Amino acid sequence: MRRLIPALAVTLFSGCWVAEYDQVGDARFPLEPHRLWPLYTWNDGQIAAGKTTGPQAALEQPIPFSHNIHAGTLQMQCEYCHAEARRSIHAGVPTLGTCMNCHSQVKLDNPDVQKIHMAWCGEPKCTLAKDAYGQLVPPPNAASPAWQRVHDLPDYVYFAHKRHVQAGVQCTECHGQMSLQGQKLADPANPDAEPSVQVVNVRETTLQMGWCLDCHASHPTIDQNYGEQADLRRAELKDCWTCHK
Ligand code: HEC
Ligand code: HEC
Ligand code: HEC
Ligand code: HEC
Ligand code: HEC
Repeated sequence: MRRLIPALAVTLFSGCWVAEYDQVGDARFPLEPHRLWPLYTWNDGQIAAGKTTGPQAALEQPIPFSHNIHAGTLQMQCEYCHAEARRSIHAGVPTLGTCMNCHSQVKLDNPDVQKIHMAWCGEPKCTLAKDAYGQLVPPPNAASPAWQRVHDLPDYVYFAHKRHVQAGVQCTECHGQMSLQGQKLADPANPDAEPSVQVVNVRETTLQMGWCLDCHASHPTIDQNYGEQADLRRAELKDCWTCHK
């Protein structure tokens, strides 16, 4: 909060102006990162990043996981893999054990599925161990893939999934149509070849303060959930302390 105080005064004068810059040069976020508050050099920590504009700009994930196959074609529920979303600040990313529930059996000849096995046991096809309840026992050296984050708020912002999910705000309102992401697309350099370029995950919203505030001022669940208290709740959601603790 200390860092916010000088900015607070400026913000009041500038009407919460937040500029967007093309380049910041943070190697962790190679995708069109934007400076959140360029007036201050102390804002050199985290930045929201991740929007891709073309296939070349796609983040390199350790395993090209396709939401389109799993949440689209196979119609898996988001919360099967992001089980924390309803009860925690984070939505969470599934452990390899979740993948292995199926991929211990499914698509074993696929080189990307073999990457799951490599991370699980160090071999392209693992010998499986199960406990007395039939659950897979992870090998002692099972590693989690180093998934790159696509949505990332600065540390000084408080955001909690659970309140939003419990209130009835849909994943799509903030993350777009995830179940369409991860389709194979034609390579622009070689348009006649079979589609091969996979944009695994695109951030579709800005995650900027104005975006949060716009929704807080107008989302229909606030009237539904708070009735006569709705205006009071909306005022609370505008308060700086709600998001900057
Ligand atoms: C089979 C498991 C699985 C299902 C089902 C699934 N996801 Fe995911 N999701 C993942 C994995 C693994 C990642 C990390 C890799 C990546 O970013 O592509 C991820 C990443 C994400 C991210 C990006 C996180 C970041 O880096 O910022 C969002 C947003 C997301 N999922 C939303 C959804 C939504 C919405 C649904 C339902 C439509 C869904 N997921 C269904 C496994 C799943
Ligand atoms: C409920 C079962 C299930 C779970 C859980 C699951 N998958 Fe899959 N996955 C499938 C099936 C079925 C296919 C094959 C779809 C097809 O070929 O039409 C598949 C296909 C794949 C493929 C190959 C895609 C291609 O190009 O054909 C990869 C890679 C993959 N999954 C990764 C993962 C990862 C990583 C996780 C964990 C985050 C995961 N899966 C969790 C069922 C599952
Ligand atoms: C009100 C907007 C909003 C809703 C609704 C929402 N998310 Fe998120 N999500 C975010 C923001 C903002 C972040 C970045 C959080 C951060 O950096 O701390 C995020 C991050 C994530 C991540 C990255 C890992 C993490 O936990 O930070 C995943 C995965 C994800 N969301 C999945 C989901 C799923 C699945 C749903 C629906 C059940 C959902 N989200 C609903 C805004 C939302
Ligand atoms: C609904 C949540 C929310 C509320 C309420 C809110 N903010 Fe923010 N604020 C954010 C988010 C998210 C960011 C980071 C993204 C961005 O810069 O747009 C941010 C960024 C900022 C920054 C930029 C800091 C930097 O280092 O770049 C300042 C300053 C700020 N907020 C001040 C305020 C003030 C003053 C208020 C009260 C009038 C306020 N905020 C209310 C969500 C909120
Ligand atoms: C699509 C709409 C939507 C967006 C976008 C959105 N929110 Fe919210 N948010 C809500 C609603 C609705 C509530 C009220 C939930 C309730 O009171 O039950 C809420 C409540 C909150 C709360 C109060 C939680 C509590 O414990 O009282 C915080 C903090 C918050 N949002 C932060 C954010 C931040 C930060 C962002 C932007 C990064 C954001 N929200 C973006 C709809 C949204």
